[in-house]
Amino acid sequence: MQLRLDKFLADAGYGTRSEVKQLIRRGEVLVDGKRASGPEQKVDITQNSVTVSGETVFYEPLSYYILNKPEGVLSASRDGREKTVVDLIPEPKRRDLFPVGRLDRDTTGLLLITNDGKLSNRLMAPGKHVPKTYRATVEGTLPENLAELFAAGVDIGDDRPTAPATVVILDGTDDDSIEGSVIPAGDNGDEEADRSGVMSTETASSPADPITHQVELTITEGRYHQVKRMFEAVGCHVTGLERIRIADLTLPQELPRGSVLKITYEELMARLGI
Ligand code: URA
Repeated sequence: MQLRLDKFLADAGYGTRSEVKQLIRRGEVLVDGKRASGPEQKVDITQNSVTVSGETVFYEPLSYYILNKPEGVLSASRDGREKTVVDLIPEPKRRDLFPVGRLDRDTTGLLLITNDGKLSNRLMAPGKHVPKTYRATVEGTLPENLAELFAAGVDIGDDRPTAPATVVILDGTDDDSIEGSVIPAGDNGDEEADRSGVMSTETASSPADPITHQVELTITEGRYHQVKRMFEAVGCHVTGLERIRIADLTLPQELPRGSVLKITYEELMARLGI
């Protein structure tokens, strides 16, 4: 496929069309080892080798990766100083890739990386309401009516409450998890734990030994720090957060933290079920 050199470089993430024209005019772009003649020069990305300031340009029109994001990595394309999720792609330097939405630096789990802007918009645009599920470790006493509160939407300090969200308490064994409801913590503080593993209020009041819950929360928006702020709004604190699902796409169990899986558009769509 033949493309104009300036379009090719812009698509490959080397800047806007006018920025890449400057690179070409300054003689920083070589095609098959020779100085590019101009922005309109045609290149065939399967045949020609293009370098910018000595760096080989790698590009393919549409790429999709599933990343199991580790802690401590920035959800960004590239950063002068810090390691980003795109740096975890083992293929040669790609400047066109970006994460679909953002996870906080300390959030782990499922993150898609692509150069497909349309797909990113389809998954992340506020109007699309694509469900994203998080597993959170939460400290504090969960309100008895947590499910109702989250279903109704909570005030997290924005101009409007959050959209309806669903919650599953995972405390105790899998069989004990309670979908859409919360087991009360006990009203007299004498019980150590009820059958879901939610500790008594007596234990809750000990600052040295805070109650910790495992909770699955599904939201359909992507506001800044949304999950953490939703739990703060009900008096609790998220100490660990992992994204485990986007639509029907579940974080593959066999994918180690920090690893990526490259998949085709068709496979991704089948897994997402959208
Ligand atoms: N909500 C958060 O609070 N953090 C994330 O990284 C994602 C959702």
